[in-house]
Amino acid sequence: MARFVAGVALVVLLVLRSLAAGKVSDEFIRLPSDRPSLLDRAFPRTFDGDSDGKKWAVLIAGSSGYWNYRHQADVCHAYQVLKKGGLKDENIIVFMYDDIAYNEENPRPGIIINSPHGDNVYTGVPKDYTGNDVNVNNFLAVILGNKTALTGGSGKVVDSGPNDHIFIFYSDHGGPGVLGMPTYPNLYANDLIETLKKKHAAGAYKSLVFYLEACESGSIFEGLLPKGLNIYATTASNAVENSWGTYCPGDYPSPPPEYQTCLGDLYSVAWMEDRLLIFDHVYSEGHNLKTETLKQQYELVKRRTANADSSNYGSHVMQFGDKDLGRDMLYLYMGTNPANEKYTRVDDNSLRPLSSRAINQRDADLVHFWEKYRKAPEGSTRKVEAQKQFLEAMSHRAHLDDSMKLVGKLLFGIEKGPKVLETVRPAGQPLVDDWKCLKSLVNFRFRLKSSLPQFIPRSGLSSFGSSVQVRAFEEQCGSLSQYGLKHMRSIANICNAGITVKQMSEASAQACPTVPSGPWSSLHGGFSA
Ligand SMILES: *[C@@H]1O[C@H](CO)[C@@H](O)[C@H](O)[C@H]1NC(C)=O
Repeated sequence: MARFVAGVALVVLLVLRSLAAGKVSDEFIRLPSDRPSLLDRAFPRTFDGDSDGKKWAVLIAGSSGYWNYRHQADVCHAYQVLKKGGLKDENIIVFMYDDIAYNEENPRPGIIINSPHGDNVYTGVPKDYTGNDVNVNNFLAVILGNKTALTGGSGKVVDSGPNDHIFIFYSDHGGPGVLGMPTYPNLYANDLIETLKKKHAAGAYKSLVFYLEACESGSIFEGLLPKGLNIYATTASNAVENSWGTYCPGDYPSPPPEYQTCLGDLYSVAWMEDRLLIFDHVYSEGHNLKTETLKQQYELVKRRTANADSSNYGSHVMQFGDKDLGRDMLYLYMGTNPANEKYTRVDDNSLRPLSSRAINQRDADLVHFWEKYRKAPEGSTRKVEAQKQFLEAMSHRAHLDDSMKLVGKLLFGIEKGPKVLETVRPAGQPLVDDWKCLKSLVNFRFRLKSSLPQFIPRSGLSSFGSSVQVRAFEEQCGSLSQYGLKHMRSIANICNAGITVKQMSEASAQACPTVPSGPWSSLHGGFSA
């Protein structure tokens, strides 16, 4: 255990160390509005207000818990951007667990901020789908505009027509091929893509823009999102890397001292602050959403999220789908704030570099527990509680990492196991060929009395005896939880290697004689698949 605590202490120290100097302006900086690029002038995408169809938006924070403050803060902020852009509440559908504003850890009850000097972004956010209504079923039903498929919530859906534009923003934890939800199951990439294809087939939009913040978010579209659906997607990271929280304790700029959590995510904040325009000592042109294109925003967000100044953190923002749509004006999706249309030149001395450090999304919960521990008074119940939370999270991680490695070795041998688990398919190929297999290897419980699902290969049938129970990874080893989503690629590779559910069940049983008792392992909430 000491080894892991030391490891995290090191991570935290790395984060806190040598913070870059510089200041950030707490106001939006306005510059003369930029001109469309030559390409845009050659092939202009015209717009003329509402005759161009309605603008719809679906905003979703896929997590809960105070240590995940930033996802709901991102989504609330996105609502404010769209609202200022003139979108109507009836066309903005918000999914948020809504356990942050009045969380006992929140130092400013009823207030959510998305940057150190930011305004309250919680004001007026529609509570369409909160608590357990934030789930895969409702999210996909909302996109499809299928009211009868909803369970709970406000009943608002994307009731769009062929001339409409749809913007979807998802901020959360993720892993290869999967996006988190505050409820179970998680959202699998193939189910999302199928839904987008159905929406397209229904002729229910002119074009759709998807902004996605999550670890390994590129894997959601890589090799999966076909061209021709009139969808333009950008993701915070490529298919094999983390995405990053920002405005974390110890960053520069850091949250106000009373906040023991990250306030935002790097990619998300980058697109929403695409009015601040100054980062990494680069002064960008001013941005008027009427003249800025999706592609221009992508380039800006990419530069800020890559954090070229430092190799310690940053990720590769990617684009997928119909990249031609990059020539569309942001206005078509986000509307425009009339106040931003009359930019005035700012004095040079108010242009100050924005420099920030960020925290790997997967460690943001640890940072919260660590900060809570560090700041709690000696001998207090709070200190003991924070220490317990920290250690529980660490031991859950160690348990998952060790069990997955062991499962690999049991299935493929000591030498080959790690290699199979770590295989990364070439760019352009989807993570896995058989998504049913992926889901069932993550969690599957089968008793012979029920009928056999067709995805168990025939060769595996003969060895099913009447007493046999097939229980895949989570049933044997405990919940993957948000951290364990990183192992989705290993599980996908196990599928790609042709391993059956039964074989996985046997290996998992050997690797994990019991489900650990810690809260993170708990299967109480359900399964990931
Ligand atoms: C809407 O959802 C219901 C319930 O899941 C389903 O039976 C129905 O086919 C769906 N309608 C459409 C148009 O997809």
